[in-house]
Amino acid sequence: MIVSGKARLAGVIGWPVGHSRSPRLHGYWLEQYGIDGAYVPLAVPPERIEDAIRALPALGFRGANVTVPHKEAALRIVDRVDPVARRIGAVNTIVVGEDGRLEGRNTDAYGFITNLRQGAPEWRPAAGPALVLGAGGAARAVVAALVDAGVPEIRLYNRTVAKAEALARDVGGPIRVVTEPEPAGAALLVNTTTLGMAGQPPLDLDLATLAPEAVVTDIVYTPLITPLLAAARARGNVVVDGLGMLLHQAVPGFEAWFGVRPEVTGELREFVLNGLAA
Ligand code: ATR
Repeated sequence: MIVSGKARLAGVIGWPVGHSRSPRLHGYWLEQYGIDGAYVPLAVPPERIEDAIRALPALGFRGANVTVPHKEAALRIVDRVDPVARRIGAVNTIVVGEDGRLEGRNTDAYGFITNLRQGAPEWRPAAGPALVLGAGGAARAVVAALVDAGVPEIRLYNRTVAKAEALARDVGGPIRVVTEPEPAGAALLVNTTTLGMAGQPPLDLDLATLAPEAVVTDIVYTPLITPLLAAARARGNVVVDGLGMLLHQAVPGFEAWFGVRPEVTGELREFVLNGLAA
């Protein structure tokens, strides 16, 4: 990809950042839409995060994604924070405004719910309670998305109960912290923990009481079909893998920086999957 002197600039700020799929994803869209732009990895250590974010307007960047471990710091540094990012307590997308001010957004909740709706079009928020496993950064976005979609009750289970209670307090809504990950009665089951990820222990959850019509989704996408999704699929439940959340969360940022709302297609999925295998 050749960029001109007028190229629009964006990137992903992380530490480390070498594992990030975002340059491949945004690079695909830039190519696809013939945009004179570049999206680059920006490796920034924690002690330089404020300098780096503050430098974006001076360097002419349209904005950036923010990833581990900087999402919470980004919330404190930007000039304006959108309400969803405020509730989640993390910023994953920064847009430099016309006035040079930094706007912090969080598109993870959008990415999660859009992937779920596309992957399981028959799922309805009103169908019943959701059981959410985990209370880390990803869980905050997932729970906010489910509350905003109108899910009547979110049963939140986490190994460390205090973190689940803090999440419930911060995000707000019909969230009930539970002390057992009991699938009975749930219309939706979401894993947001790192369990089941390649190199991590499997998620040890008995699905015997899970309703046959319940939808199961995992935000882990390495492997694409986690042991949880495989077990649910074997029982006949509809399952939705986590790759689409990564793809969809990137859409609003790309649109804000490069002026085109990009499409999440099967070909894009294949392209990003090939990158995962590499
Ligand atoms: P992310 O930002 O991706 O959500 P995180 O903030 O590190 O990552 O959260 C990881 C989640 O996986 C947490 O809910 C964590 O549980 P704790 O809050 O109790 O730490 C959960 N998790 C990770 N390893 C786990 C394990 N071995 N058993 C149970 N839960 C685990």
